Amino acid sequence: MGTLIQNGIVVTAAGQQRADVLIEDELIVQVGAGIPAVEHQIVEATDLLVMPGGIDVHTHLDMPFGGTVSADDYRTGTIAAAVGGTTSVIDFALQSRGHTLREALDTWLAKSKDKACLDYSLHMAVTDLGTDGKSLSEMEEMVAEGISSFKLFMAYPNVLMIDDGLMFQVMQKAASINALCCIHAENGSAIDVVVAQYIAEGRTAPHFHAHSRSAKAEAEATHRAIALAEMTGCAVYIVHLSNEEALRELRHAQAHYSRALAETCTQYLVLSIEDQMPGKSWEEAKFVFTPPLREKRNQEPLWEALTDGSLSVVSTDHCPFRFADQKSLGKDDFTRIPNGGPGIENRLQILWHFGVNSGRLTPEKFVELCCTNPAKIFGMTQKGELKPGKDADVLLWDPNAEYTIQAATQCMATDYNMFEGWTVRGNASKVFSRGELVVDKGKWIGQTGRGRFIKRVANGGGTV
Ligand code: URP
Ligand code: ZN
Ligand code: ZN
Repeated sequence: MGTLIQNGIVVTAAGQQRADVLIEDELIVQVGAGIPAVEHQIVEATDLLVMPGGIDVHTHLDMPFGGTVSADDYRTGTIAAAVGGTTSVIDFALQSRGHTLREALDTWLAKSKDKACLDYSLHMAVTDLGTDGKSLSEMEEMVAEGISSFKLFMAYPNVLMIDDGLMFQVMQKAASINALCCIHAENGSAIDVVVAQYIAEGRTAPHFHAHSRSAKAEAEATHRAIALAEMTGCAVYIVHLSNEEALRELRHAQAHYSRALAETCTQYLVLSIEDQMPGKSWEEAKFVFTPPLREKRNQEPLWEALTDGSLSVVSTDHCPFRFADQKSLGKDDFTRIPNGGPGIENRLQILWHFGVNSGRLTPEKFVELCCTNPAKIFGMTQKGELKPGKDADVLLWDPNAEYTIQAATQCMATDYNMFEGWTVRGNASKVFSRGELVVDKGKWIGQTGRGRFIKRVANGGGTV
């Protein structure tokens, strides 16, 4: 006996059709009209859209950062993701300087063990090449473990940043093993000079975080990262691209180098320095993340870039910290405010409401950006599509459901929500993860720890 999702509108990146979806065990076995109901458990979907579950390729769960640890662990973070319609995440394992990639992998697998509620994978952040370049040879081992993307930070000097020479070596290695390099592109050295000057001048309020990290610093690093990638031939994916200047650099590179890809994140599409960080209150610490919020005029170009394919993915960069006792570490000094914001639960709601309902995105484009492209780019061969043989990660989406976002009712472990009080139309109705109904009527009903590690293939960023 299988589960037959009947009469929904099946939306894929390629089109829409009224059809049934048959799930047996953990897999999709058939998609089409009029699948016989014999013996199957029926899920009526007449008023719903049936889509692949969302994939959030940029999350930071249980991550030590900024003198504390991100508030969602693998249990709360993946439950929040699921309730919002996401069925897989790719989190970041961070190499500690002086330690190996293997140690980082073991640390992150221990964090997720018995806690991950959804299938998940890891990018490996390389922060140190180690003795005799050991990290470079370990990259091959990581790919064999299913970790086919490596993160490089051009920001956060003294903590995570690596210099251009080291980055170049990692890129050379990545090119040789068909791995993907994910880049946090900001000129961290220049930014830190500005930051130190601001603090010396007594400019310590949260909004100075945003002003100290210019769009130009991001654009310059975006240009440099792609230029270095091009010199090595490696595929490169710019994470959390936030502004029009950086976008210009991306497009300029893409005109001649097809292996340059990028994402933006929900917050840059709908939040702005004018609305959220006018420089009036400590509350603005809720929006201290990196890259920072930008001027509103950057939003429309980002939406256009999603439509024209310059940007391939929308992720969250979910890096949650509580306002009361974590953001407060920087009450008198913005440099001590842990950088990051919560968003894993609301990505699809926000993107549907402001993207699809507003006419900026088609439902097909929504699926492409949130589900299909993430799977293709990051080598998740079983995910991101509704096709026979794929994992039955299925989202039943109610395009007419109205929902008011509130920290008081959310699953994320923060005491605030960046979209507090916003009413959106369009929400997850049911979520299946490998064939199992894990979210129904907005509630998580699955078992803790049921998530499995996804081994990803090294496909050099795929072809999107
Ligand atoms: O502010 C952010 N984004 N925190 C998480 C680390 C990163 O840079 O992605
Ligand atoms: Zn980053
Ligand atoms: Zn991040």
